[in-house]
Amino acid sequence: MNTVLIHYLKNQIAINDDWARRLVYPLLIGGKRVRSMLLYVIGKMLNCPYPAIEELCCCLELLHSYSLVHDDLPAMDNDCFRRGFPTAHKMFSEADAILIGDSLLTESFALLSSSHHIPPLPKIALIQALAKAAGAQELIMGQWLDISNGCADIESLISLHQKKTGALFGFALSAPAILLNNHLLIDKLKILGLKLGLAFQIQDDLLDVQYNPGLGKTAGKDLKLKKKTFFTLLGSELSQNMLDDLYKEIYQEVNLSFNNSSLLISLIQQLQERKF
Ligand code: IPE
Ligand code: IPE
Ligand code: MG
Ligand code: MG
Ligand code: MG
Repeated sequence: MNTVLIHYLKNQIAINDDWARRLVYPLLIGGKRVRSMLLYVIGKMLNCPYPAIEELCCCLELLHSYSLVHDDLPAMDNDCFRRGFPTAHKMFSEADAILIGDSLLTESFALLSSSHHIPPLPKIALIQALAKAAGAQELIMGQWLDISNGCADIESLISLHQKKTGALFGFALSAPAILLNNHLLIDKLKILGLKLGLAFQIQDDLLDVQYNPGLGKTAGKDLKLKKKTFFTLLGSELSQNMLDDLYKEIYQEVNLSFNNSSLLISLIQQLQERKF
């Protein structure tokens, strides 16, 4: 994945060394690559062509990395530690981090729209789906709701989490079906992705309050920012129960919808058991 990302960024953009160093920094310092692994596994399950899947994975990682660079900015979560390293604005400057984030977002769409491996019709549908998931009604609105911190009940927190995290998971899971123009599967996988993204974010809320050096980001950050999270609204035991139920539902849906899902099931199990 890193090789492909570097190859793309170096070939696609004429960049001088100082700028290149900044642009690739948030991408290459690490990251679990969860969204792209999910996209890859579903792509394999549906027999999608590998070069198209690889490009989609890169688009997703570019976009996800942008969202983290901006999420960490002083005006947002004001975080100084990400993926085990200083955040982009700490490493360089706040203005640099804004520009790095802008570029990663824009380059994600540049890569997708200029793909030679994705035919024109699914390409337009994929651009639309990614724009919707990352745009003002989903990821960005979720981020706005998060910084506004107005969620007083669990229903509104679920909706927030589905927007800020679920929407991109929805894209990750449904992108291979969009590539194949399989409408029945697109809807199914999007809903599954929303659930998985919600589960992932509930875990993120719970992991935030556990000191775990492997996490690679500042522990206790949500408490410090007085954020409404699953931990603060429900406590860890009820949140964990809800999470277990959610994963049960997810496994049931996967087993009902696919008969060649062993790779997907084992990836979901790894996500369920994650400690960082
Ligand atoms: C962090 O996502 C932001 C959330 C939605 C919780 P990840 O936990 O996938 O971050 P990286 O990519 O591994 O750094
Ligand atoms: C970030 O959520 C979600 C997006 C970047 C869209 P968080 O603020 O909870 O993520 P962390 O905890 O900083 O990784
Ligand atoms: Mg945040
Ligand atoms: Mg944050
Ligand atoms: Mg968090």
